[in-house]
Amino acid sequence: MTDARNAGALTGEKILVVGATGQVAFPLTLSLAGSNEVWAAARFRNPDARNRLEEAGVRCAEIDLVAGSFGELPDDFSYVLNLSVVHTNNWGKALDGNAGGAGGLMWHCRAAKAFLHCSSTGVYQPDHHRRFAEGDPLGDSHRPLLPTYSISKVAAEAVVRFCARQLGLPTTIARLNVPYGDTFGLPLMHLETMVAGHPVEVHTDAPSLYNPIHADDILATVPKLLAVADVPATVVNWAGNDVVSVEDWCAYLGELTGLEPTFVHTDAAIPSVAVDLTRMHELIGPTTVEWRDGFRRMVSARHPELVG
Ligand SMILES: NC(=O)c1ccc[n+]([C@@H]2O[C@H](COP(=O)([O-])OP(=O)(O)OC[C@H]3O[C@@H](n4cnc5c(N)ncnc54)[C@H](OP(=O)(O)O)[C@@H]3O)[C@@H](O)[C@H]2O)c1
Repeated sequence: MTDARNAGALTGEKILVVGATGQVAFPLTLSLAGSNEVWAAARFRNPDARNRLEEAGVRCAEIDLVAGSFGELPDDFSYVLNLSVVHTNNWGKALDGNAGGAGGLMWHCRAAKAFLHCSSTGVYQPDHHRRFAEGDPLGDSHRPLLPTYSISKVAAEAVVRFCARQLGLPTTIARLNVPYGDTFGLPLMHLETMVAGHPVEVHTDAPSLYNPIHADDILATVPKLLAVADVPATVVNWAGNDVVSVEDWCAYLGELTGLEPTFVHTDAAIPSVAVDLTRMHELIGPTTVEWRDGFRRMVSARHPELVG
């Protein structure tokens, strides 16, 4: 493992992005395509996303992680980013796609220099407003909304840890918090909820605390996360510096737009998942986009008519 805090942008590499049509991976894949040979893998259920990737010079390869079929996917990538996720209420498909699929990918791409597996801070056992560190207990925080999510993401981490050791493949497991940007993420969903005049769902155990991370910081930290890939796998939280509550960020969206947020408090919402960033800061340094700047940019991009 190297000191990655000054790792620059990736250039001239052959990079595979798995789940490239997804909300987090799509802008990242387009950015990487400017200066690398980038391949996108998914089932490509969204043909528009595939077209946009191909227009940007990204090579698309159809795979199915649940079936374990990798089709014509090459196996000579220098770096692999697994940002896929299988959302399903079918437990077999969730385990095969998220856990088995990650293992199949690592085996297929075992010659890579490094493998970045995107996990989630949704793997932590809810514990009110605790700031979760990497060694904290794992559990089932997303059960109310996505019953298979947390458990299959924990299972995926176990498979990825095993494969890193078994294959000698330097790996980072990065537990992503709340990703957002001008085109995606929970804050944008809340903005649209407010624009539609509906209440925003928050957990009864208020406030609902998270560490939102902007797309610019996701892009900037990917090379650093790859640089700290190791055997055994490096496990690290992947989140923005600021702990912000949903209640506070909706109030700020209200300030920007003149819309008054209203809330529904329910046990069926995902509980707080704020994180301890000590390890992330040691390994790759802090993020750079202050949350209010990122939110203001998002509102200006999505609803310019609402900002002064
Ligand atoms: N979004 C969040 O708020 C959030 C928060 C924390 C962590 N994360 C993590 O961040 C990563 C990206 O999440 P996301 O929200 O961007 O995901 P997403 O929008 O749901 O995208 C999922 C991607 O996986 C692909 N995929 C799904 N089933 C597949 C299959 N059977 N075979 C091959 N590819 C398949 C999808 O394409 P096709 O359907 O076309 O195959 C798509 O490209 C995931 O690891 C997720 O757990 C996300």
